[in-house]
Amino acid sequence: MSGDIKGVILAGGLGSRLMPLTKVTNKHLLPVYNRPMIHYPLECLVKGGVKDVMIVTGGDSAGHFLKLLGSGSEFGARLCYAYQQGEGGIADALRLAEPFVGKGRMVVVLGDNLLQRTIKPSVDRFLAQKSGARILLKEVPDPERFGVAEVQGDKVVGIVEKPKQPKSNLAVTGIYFYDARAFEIIRTLKPSHRGELEITDVNNDYLARGELQSDRLEGWWSDAGTFESLYKASTLVREGGANLG
Ligand code: DAU
Repeated sequence: MSGDIKGVILAGGLGSRLMPLTKVTNKHLLPVYNRPMIHYPLECLVKGGVKDVMIVTGGDSAGHFLKLLGSGSEFGARLCYAYQQGEGGIADALRLAEPFVGKGRMVVVLGDNLLQRTIKPSVDRFLAQKSGARILLKEVPDPERFGVAEVQGDKVVGIVEKPKQPKSNLAVTGIYFYDARAFEIIRTLKPSHRGELEITDVNNDYLARGELQSDRLEGWWSDAGTFESLYKASTLVREGGANLG
């Protein structure tokens, strides 16, 4: 059943919050404990039952991803690659996956997101959904760093990107489930004040149509895009592994 869904890992961007580590390489090739960062989202997808994966990257080190991951067979995946020109945002990078996903469905993982448990239960719930999108929420101590979900009971009623005064402590994690409508939505987006096409705008569009479901993520979750979160992610992996059952 999971064969019906494609995986997309977004690994472009400048990694400017990790300068000078990212001056001569891509953020997703940096180590998280004992492995390159990109291994973790790839393993997250494969263990979730998603084996057809596109990696979207950019910049001068794009070729290194091919050298590191090749066809993906070593990981039990079938990989293909796309090149993002510039750093137009997460939704801009996702646009490039349209020929790969076609009219099908996808699970998108941000290349700097790591998690402890398998996403398989959410993959199954998404495949049981007729259409629409699904996001994964996690309680965090510093919601202002993320997209933040406003909830009423179990229902998401709004998402705000990096709010100064968050309405909850529920971060929208970088694991998103979409049908092919996501590509139509992206075509309507305008760049935000930071000059990017925002994935939060895609999620809010689904929400406005009544087509956004959500799950709470079990186990630990971390991004790795700042010095503190990169350090924390390395410690979490060292102590407890990632993408376990
Ligand atoms: O980690 C979860 C958070 O990720 C969400 O809560 C936010 O809603 C979402 O906007 C995002 O926030 P960040 O500001 O942390 O995203 P960042 O710019 O660090 O990009 C995250 C990943 O997306 C990055 O590791 C690679 C990919 N990316 C990003 C940009 C800007 C691309 O592939 N291309 C891009 O142009």
